[in-house]
Order: sequence, then structure tokens, then C-alpha cells
Amino acid sequence: MTHVIDGNAVAETVRDDVRAAIDELEAEGVTPGLATVLMGGDDGSATYVSMKQRACDEVGIDGTTVEIDPDAPAEALYETIDELNADPDIHGILVQMPLPDHVPKREVLSRVDPLKDVDGFHPENVGRMVSGNSRFKPCTPHGIQKLLASADVDPEGMDAVVLGRSEIVGKPMANLLLQKTDGGNATVTVCHSRTQDLAEKTRAADLVVAAVGRPEMLTGDMLSEGVVVIDVGTNRVDADNEKGYELTGDVDFKSAREKASVISPSPGGVGPMTITMLLYNTVKAASLQSG
Ligand code: GUN
Repeated sequence: MTHVIDGNAVAETVRDDVRAAIDELEAEGVTPGLATVLMGGDDGSATYVSMKQRACDEVGIDGTTVEIDPDAPAEALYETIDELNADPDIHGILVQMPLPDHVPKREVLSRVDPLKDVDGFHPENVGRMVSGNSRFKPCTPHGIQKLLASADVDPEGMDAVVLGRSEIVGKPMANLLLQKTDGGNATVTVCHSRTQDLAEKTRAADLVVAAVGRPEMLTGDMLSEGVVVIDVGTNRVDADNEKGYELTGDVDFKSAREKASVISPSPGGVGPMTITMLLYNTVKAASLQSG
């Protein structure tokens, strides 16, 4: 029997812990505050930002969204970040990616106060994570570690294959799986667009995390019996419905499920965890700043 992970249910248990931590902070007179900055972005960005805002409201985080005209100069974004860095009621700052082409991403990520960097994208926080001393683990890979633990999957000693090398998912996921800590200790291979014989690598894997942004590219014939599969993809594909599209993962669920012992579907797996770990990091940021 394949265990299909219910991301919403796992997210709800983590949110219970987050609510308890917020109660403790409230007792000390601190309400965690998260600012989300939206400057343009793709079709999904505005939707993600409103989902983050709703999740904050739901657990008792004071969420604010700052919108910046996508045609404004980069300095407008820098000024907003400076103001949020200086605001004692704001404990976490998230700048939604992608940014318009004229805005240098690295400048932006370095500008956020590392103690408020709830995405974990500031070079200081990336360095801390890679050297095994994380402050804020990036939300999506951290959420995946929680999903694996919920299904009693311990990556220790596993051959893990990460498909995709993005800064947001692939690279930090590979790093966390490699760490000498709980949820790590795997032997990690990272595959990407230039990888040769991809199916040979995935067939040798005990654990596959698919984060490439290509609809249903990972199919059952590329997997071994008993594999653990985590689908990070949320691809918009044209559909004959009201919205005109539907969301599809990077994994062909039907054929992959036939091989997998554990599978996290998309939608309904990683998605709810990413936002939940953002709430978790915001509460951690509030604790760091008030303690
Ligand atoms: N865009 C897609 N995923 C993310 C994320 O985790 N954080 C930010 N800031 N932008 C994103």
C-alpha cells in the first residue's frame, strides 16, 4: 500500500505548534509581525501573497502586504526594505520572487535584516545553513523535511535525488538532506537540465524530490519499487474549466504511485507546508528579536 501524504493535515499539526508559540509571545506582549513585499511577479505571485496574508490572520500573526509598482526603480524597493528593517513591530520580511528584470535580486536579498529574513535567502543565512548552523531554514525544503518525518521516512543512509537546482528549493533541499542532523544524512545527487541519463539516476534513488517546473516529467518507469517521492511542482496547464487552467505537479501521480511506498502529491502536499513554515519562521524571528 502506498502512503499518500496529506500536506494539509501535516500543515495543520505544525500550525497548532505555531499557535501555541504565538500564545507564549502574546503573554509577553509581543504579536509577531510579517511584512510581505510584492513588486510585480508572475501570475502566481499575487495569489501566493494573498494566501500568506490569510494564513497569518488565521494563526494570529500581524500580516501586512506592501505593493510596489513593478515599473518603479529598484531604489523604491530598497527604501521599503529599510523602513521595514527599522520597524520594531515587523519581525519577518519576505520579498516575493520573481522580481522585475531591472531589480537586482542579490542586492535585494542582502538588504533584508538577516534576523528578519524569514525566507532564509540572505547570504548570511544561506552560509549558516550550508555550514550546519541554520537560523531560518528555507520554507519549502524545511516543509518537505516535516512531511518526510510525518510519514516516518528518515533520509539517513538513503540515496536521494533532487531534481532541480533553484536557490529556493533544489539547492537548499540538497543541503538539508546532506546535513549531519535529523532529516539529513542522505547521499545526495542533484540533477538539472544538463544532466545526462536522468532516468538512470532516478531509478537508483530511494528518495526523489522533484522541483523542476515541468508538468508530470517524472513518470513511474523512471522509479524503483518502494521509492519515496515528493512532488514540489505547481505548474499551470491549460484546462477546459472556469479558470482556464489547472495546477499539475512535476510528477505523473498515477504511474509514480504504483512504484512508490510514500508519495506527496501536488497539489495537496508541499504547498500547504511552504506557507506553514513561513509562519514558523516568523514566530522564530519574533522570539529572536524579543528574547
Ligand atoms: N516565490 C516562489 N516561492 C517563493 C518563496 O518561498 N519565497 C519568496 N520570497 N518568493 C517565492
